[in-house]
Amino acid sequence: MSEIKEIYLKDYKQPEFKVSKCDLCFELYDDYTIVTNTMNIESSKKDNQLYTLKLNSIDLELIELYLNDLKLSDARYSYKDEVLSVYNTPNKFSLKIKNKIYPQNNTELEGLYKSGSIFCTQNEPEGFRRITPYIDRPDVMAVYTTTIIADKKKYPVLLSNGNKQSENQYGDKHSVTWFDPHPKPSYLFALVAGDLGVINDSFRTMSGNDIELNIYCDLGNESKCFHAMRSLKDAMLWDEEKYGREYDLDIYNIVAVDSFNMGAMENKGLNIFNSHYVLANEELATDRDFMGIQSVIAHEYFHNWTGNRITCRDWFQLTLKEGLTVFRDQCFSADLNSKEVARIEDVKALRERQFVEDASPTSHPIQPESYISMNNFYTATVYEKGAEVIRMIHTLLGEEKYRKATDLYFESFDGQAVTTKDFLWAMSEAGKVDLTQFERWYHQNGTPRLLVSEKYENNKYILRLTQVIPNTLEGQRQRVYFFPLKIALLNEEGKEILEETLTISKEFEEFSWETDSKPILSINRDFSAPIIIKQEQNDYQFLSRHDSNSFVRYESMHSFGVDTLEKIIHNDEIDREFVDTYGYILDADLNLSFKALLLELPSVSTLMQRQEVVDFEPIYEANEKLQKHLASVYKDKLLSIYKNNHLPKDDSIESLSMDRRAIKNRVLKLLSMLGDEDIIDLVKNQYDNSSTMTDKIAALDILENTTQKEGAVSLSDFYQRYKNDTLVMNKYFAILAASEREGTLDRVMALQNDDVYDEKIPNLVRSLIGVFARNYKHFHSKDGLGYKFVADKIIEIDKINAQMASALAGAFKIYEKMNETNKKLMKAELKRVVSTHSLSKNCYEIVNKILT
Ligand code: ARG
Ligand code: ZN
Repeated sequence: MSEIKEIYLKDYKQPEFKVSKCDLCFELYDDYTIVTNTMNIESSKKDNQLYTLKLNSIDLELIELYLNDLKLSDARYSYKDEVLSVYNTPNKFSLKIKNKIYPQNNTELEGLYKSGSIFCTQNEPEGFRRITPYIDRPDVMAVYTTTIIADKKKYPVLLSNGNKQSENQYGDKHSVTWFDPHPKPSYLFALVAGDLGVINDSFRTMSGNDIELNIYCDLGNESKCFHAMRSLKDAMLWDEEKYGREYDLDIYNIVAVDSFNMGAMENKGLNIFNSHYVLANEELATDRDFMGIQSVIAHEYFHNWTGNRITCRDWFQLTLKEGLTVFRDQCFSADLNSKEVARIEDVKALRERQFVEDASPTSHPIQPESYISMNNFYTATVYEKGAEVIRMIHTLLGEEKYRKATDLYFESFDGQAVTTKDFLWAMSEAGKVDLTQFERWYHQNGTPRLLVSEKYENNKYILRLTQVIPNTLEGQRQRVYFFPLKIALLNEEGKEILEETLTISKEFEEFSWETDSKPILSINRDFSAPIIIKQEQNDYQFLSRHDSNSFVRYESMHSFGVDTLEKIIHNDEIDREFVDTYGYILDADLNLSFKALLLELPSVSTLMQRQEVVDFEPIYEANEKLQKHLASVYKDKLLSIYKNNHLPKDDSIESLSMDRRAIKNRVLKLLSMLGDEDIIDLVKNQYDNSSTMTDKIAALDILENTTQKEGAVSLSDFYQRYKNDTLVMNKYFAILAASEREGTLDRVMALQNDDVYDEKIPNLVRSLIGVFARNYKHFHSKDGLGYKFVADKIIEIDKINAQMASALAGAFKIYEKMNETNKKLMKAELKRVVSTHSLSKNCYEIVNKILT
């Protein structure tokens, strides 16, 4: 491995050389690939001196180099420590490099690699240097021409970025040349070769251009691509209507591959996707999967403007494109589905992933100051908190000014590699707001708290707010934020006396209103700021029944649940008022998905985040107690909700059908806590007779966690039915790895030998090992065997795929907060990992942060 070096934002310097044109030729063979890379390069200095050109290169076999068509002798260049140096270069020249790579042995899945029999690429952030020597940084933008030569039979489909320019045949081989007129950084380069199935469609843009749309997949999976295609067309139209952004090439290609480190990649004109985010049909995919496809397809499409046309100057600016693009895909999903449900789901995900990260030793600002491995910074903070920051700007500016501001951003920076400052300039310029203080959201870490105290006297309602800002990891003080806080005051009927968006900027603030009677406060409506609210007094019971803001209604029910569970933990006492409110919600006439969210009890992770010293057992016990109680008090009501909404043959993905599945599976899960035979029969029946994967998985999960016997029968039925479909098998592994039953670790270990399991396929690793590492009950078992197992896997997988291994290491992030017993056990394993010979820098960075 290369030496461990920390890269700092403050050290940013403009590139010394620029590449304006990059012509690539790939000759693909079974056991190696020859890359010929011809670049037009120009020095940024104009002084006619001779300079050394430095090109990033990892694991490349150089064959030959030509400068202005003259072959370079060995003395003119050297290759060491992942840098190829070419000495004494003129101001302007062409450099041709021929090198050899071995995609079939590339298990890191970065650069050019093989997913099954398909050649594909993943270059963000720094994969291109594993293909050919290059100035591999996003502020170097070139126009690419790519020729791919391969066996015609094995690789009939040859794809790269841009528009297709020409095709040729030579005996058993053929070649295709692609030309991308838009200058782009190397991380957006892509290549695909394989024997692929395809579905086509087309889209007419607002200025009347007809775009050819293709989705490629493994042969035989074509019929599973239609939802992705629908979503793509919806996204194209939405971006025209909402942002005035139109697509800019003749062709838009998407390819689904099974081996992919992340969700998907926005390469110009040639998106490459984890097949999980493309392939679906009613029998094989859950409702959640369908929603995931819609949002990721849109996300990658939206990157064409926010990411590709305007890209990042350096990787510290990642949130410039990711925060903004996540915000865009969240709004898209909210527009196409239920706004209220979408917002709650987004906040839930933020708190489960980002808040936890922000309270851990790997906490960082949305714009980090340094990194060892950039791959470790594709985080919930950069993405999801980044999206919340954009959302706050949207709230501060309002719809109309926000649109003016994004127009200005696109006009001003099209074709450039820019910084978050440039973005903020456009927002404040067109939005006519001063965002100087707001900018702290980019540079400070941790989740701010807002202390709320209320007073009512002489017909005056007084609201006092105090910002409490956490220190940095090193203990330095951080400053107070500027943010929008949407509030309402309600009367006893729940009617709004007023609704206002306050702008908060000081440590202490006081607001007051004249009101006839004491109002009820509805605060942080729509979750207008990503903060934690601490109220001196609360009206959860009232707000969860009556608030007109669906987010606050959800939030109040959720906080009420948290308080109730904590009362059980501390006094072993179930709050009757909560139980009553739960009954009230069961009867209420609401959108069914929204209702399912209101009825969901707080997660184990929510309670864990509130513990000073983490101990899972009491949380699990309290949860079980509350659920059993609710299920027995409301058994009849729950059963009737189940029966009214269980339509086993309805496999539509229209919203009403999805809503029905959401509510009935929520109540079924609760009912199953009783362990009654009549309920288990319902579950079994649902597994046997439902035609959707959503229902089957819900039933299977319940069976696995409640009954040994029926569970085993259904699980083996499921396995037999779907063992040839890896995407479905991911769900099977995940259910077993998340199981709360005794013996889960042993079963997970045994499953590694299952024919279907393959440690080289990230989705499978995530489903089995990744899910186990987030199974608090078994990962944190007091015998330490859960820790030992995951540590062994990290060490083993690190040799295959460092990105996967460091993602697994994330499970140890709560180390610091664990109780003494678990902490000691964790520490021993972390030390073992960090002292492993030739550990990747990815893993080193994460584990080292956890330990210090
Ligand atoms: N830009 C991609 C997306 O958000 C993700 C790329 C992730 N790459 C990585 N090496 N972690 O759509
Ligand atoms: Zn993205």
